[in-house]
Amino acid sequence: MITIVDCGSQFTQNIARRVRELGTYSEIVPYNTSVTEIGAKKPDGIIISGGQYSVYDKGAPMYDKALLDLPVPKLGICYGQQSIARLLGGKVEPTSKREYGKTQVRIKNCPLFHGIYKREFKSGNVTANHKHSLDVWMSHADIVTQMPEGFVDVARSASGHIAAMYKDDIYAVQFHPEVDHTEHGRDLLKNFVQRICHAAKDWNNDAFLERTGAEIKEKVGDGRVIGAVSGGVDSSVGAVFLSQLLGDQFHVYFVNNGLLRKNEEQEVMQYLSPLIKNIHYVDAADEFISKLNGVGDPDEKRNVIGNTFITVFEREAGPLGAKYLFQGTLYPDVIESVPIYGSSSKIKRHHNVGGLPKRMGLKLVEPWRYLFKDEVRAIGERLGVPHEIVWRHPFPGPGLAVRIVGKHNPITSEKLKMLREADDIFISELKKSGHYEKIAQAFAVLTPIETSGVMGDEGTYQRTIGLRAVTTSDFMTADWYWPGKDFVTHVTNRIINEVKGVDRVVYDTTQKPPATIEWE
Ligand code: XMP
Repeated sequence: MITIVDCGSQFTQNIARRVRELGTYSEIVPYNTSVTEIGAKKPDGIIISGGQYSVYDKGAPMYDKALLDLPVPKLGICYGQQSIARLLGGKVEPTSKREYGKTQVRIKNCPLFHGIYKREFKSGNVTANHKHSLDVWMSHADIVTQMPEGFVDVARSASGHIAAMYKDDIYAVQFHPEVDHTEHGRDLLKNFVQRICHAAKDWNNDAFLERTGAEIKEKVGDGRVIGAVSGGVDSSVGAVFLSQLLGDQFHVYFVNNGLLRKNEEQEVMQYLSPLIKNIHYVDAADEFISKLNGVGDPDEKRNVIGNTFITVFEREAGPLGAKYLFQGTLYPDVIESVPIYGSSSKIKRHHNVGGLPKRMGLKLVEPWRYLFKDEVRAIGERLGVPHEIVWRHPFPGPGLAVRIVGKHNPITSEKLKMLREADDIFISELKKSGHYEKIAQAFAVLTPIETSGVMGDEGTYQRTIGLRAVTTSDFMTADWYWPGKDFVTHVTNRIINEVKGVDRVVYDTTQKPPATIEWE
């Protein structure tokens, strides 16, 4: 087992997940957990997370220095590196050259870079210590300017900052090996967990399902559990899991809010009905659309949709008298909506139906609360959920409402129709060409912008459609995806020719951060 000491980074759970991916159980403890308690669990290694504080800040999450004396390997990441430097007598200072996002570092040979660092061969002769570069993901304002005694630096950034250092069993890196965009990040963690800590590989999905299933059964006893499915992977796999686990004790509702994609309601019911014993379809499209009349603000849209959903759900499921509510909450939903240690890291307003459990007096059953989407996908495949559902791109609860963007771009059935058609062209072409499964999420948005065009001999002044496709596995950072000029030209032409009211298509080339995945 690897213990992760959480110093408040929004990526702490990524570290846990990466370690579990390697087949080793990992557990997160707050930074102020006593060293005796951490030691008593007999971890094979300790990872100290990043965090948003400077080590000199008042209230910085500083763990007990004795943690570094535990007789197991330690790895500090970002703030973890800075705190190790500070506690062991090194120097940490703010830098005028902050490093955010992709940065290049030059690495040297050391246990952490085993198999990553490569020597160059010149006419068969090894050129010793030849430097090798890695693209890594950084996010820091402070740097280690002086290493504690005995440490050696094994990586430097382009600005010359210490990017990795170690001494005996204490390792530290300034960059984030746990995010997708760090090259060889997984290999670095694998070196730490397997080569340096020698941790056992005995953690897998079956073990997780068995433990979670037993916990849920114990929690709910013979009480009823209700829930809603959206057709997305999290809620669908969760509903199948609970239906298999609880049988008739579990009822689930699929609410058509009128903001679904083209043909979505038929597809979802067709895929899920054979797998979930008590699944109920509720058509509330008109109710939602009329409540959204004239609403433009993104938060307000989310509120209206969330509240309408609660009303509908309560009306449908209330008479069952359930005590528990299933939610397919994933870790990114939790982490991005909770301010960490009082910080202002509130990135997203998820939990659109956050008021539901309290209002209906329901306790939550959230089997995926500590999992990421790709872990849920693997579980879905194990449970026999169809490929189309397991590999479906996520779709936000407020649906197409947040893709008709702009405060002064009210939702109408005409605009919904335009967006549905454009989105369907983009997605079906992505599927046909094999791009779909290389992408984490893709969609069209209908902007409020009207622009000039010429169609035949006529001048036009019509809407602009935006296309967005991103790659990511954690949805916390994302890169934009380019399916190629021919593909985009073909999709653009189809949209212009087939979707009435559109005379321009634009392609979104922004990474997250700074942009979010959805346009609003
Ligand atoms: P952002 O836009 O925050 O999106 O980069 C990250 C992921 O969350 C989805 N998303 C939502 N899901 N309700 C949801 O259920 C929402 O209000 C919401 N906003 C964004 C988004 O589609 C992406 O997968």
